Amino acid sequence: MKTIRIAIDGPAGAGKSTIAKMAAEKLNYTYVDTGAMYRAITYKSMEHQLDLSDEAALVDLLKQTTIELRPSETGQQVYLDGINVSNEIRTTEVTSNVSEVAAHARVRQELVDRQMVLAQTGGVIMDGRDIGTHVIPDAELKIFMSASADERARRRLLDNEKRGIPSDLEQLKADIIKRDKLDSEREASPLVQAEDAIYLDTTNLSIDQVVEKIVQLAKEKESAV
Ligand code: CDP
Ligand code: CDP
Repeated sequence: MKTIRIAIDGPAGAGKSTIAKMAAEKLNYTYVDTGAMYRAITYKSMEHQLDLSDEAALVDLLKQTTIELRPSETGQQVYLDGINVSNEIRTTEVTSNVSEVAAHARVRQELVDRQMVLAQTGGVIMDGRDIGTHVIPDAELKIFMSASADERARRRLLDNEKRGIPSDLEQLKADIIKRDKLDSEREASPLVQAEDAIYLDTTNLSIDQVVEKIVQLAKEKESAV
């Protein structure tokens, strides 16, 4: 059976990375977290104290930067120039700056080129905002995953509680809505559902239910190619 390429897009907290990771394990596919790549260059730019509105400076820095997603027993690890930055890229500071960096067309082009290479092999599940529309426009399976903003904020609150990060539900909801707006309204490959994507509302679905649904859709597609 041939393996396929699966694109999962949607707003923050919809469940994309959790579900993509689990479905990848079940299907024995490679999972690619494209958000981690935008986070990694945002983190490095902040460390270098770059002006995040300076597209040319960001692109220069990115061209000298390696970003690798390496599998490990505790899940995918993100390496920036050979150093594991998996925790550093998830801070509130990086989260609140990443959409500004990701809005620059030339930053996107550089990362999209790298993501296209990662998707070439097949047997891949990639999640992000523009995977079905720009990175793998001919993906065999495209999912647009969403959930209500209240539910997505509630999930992030639980995530933070587990990690011992104090946070406020209303603040989290406001941050999520702000980031979704920036991601959806930017000119360069905004967050938008691809015409041929399947819409999946996960508000009232458990993680296992969504994973099952995607594995089932993938198997149908696998046997059709
Ligand atoms: O996991 P979470 O939903 O918080 O976000 P993420 O997937 O880690 O992505 C972080 C940010 O990177 C998004 O809010 C977008 O601004 C940007 N991003 C993007 O523009 N295109 C992608 N393919 C992936 C992420
Ligand atoms: O990658 P994205 O930002 O779309 O979301 P995520 O980080 O995978 O999911 C955010 C949180 O929601 C995680 O803690 C998941 O365990 C949880 N989740 C859930 O409770 N129910 C779902 N159907 C999907 C995710």
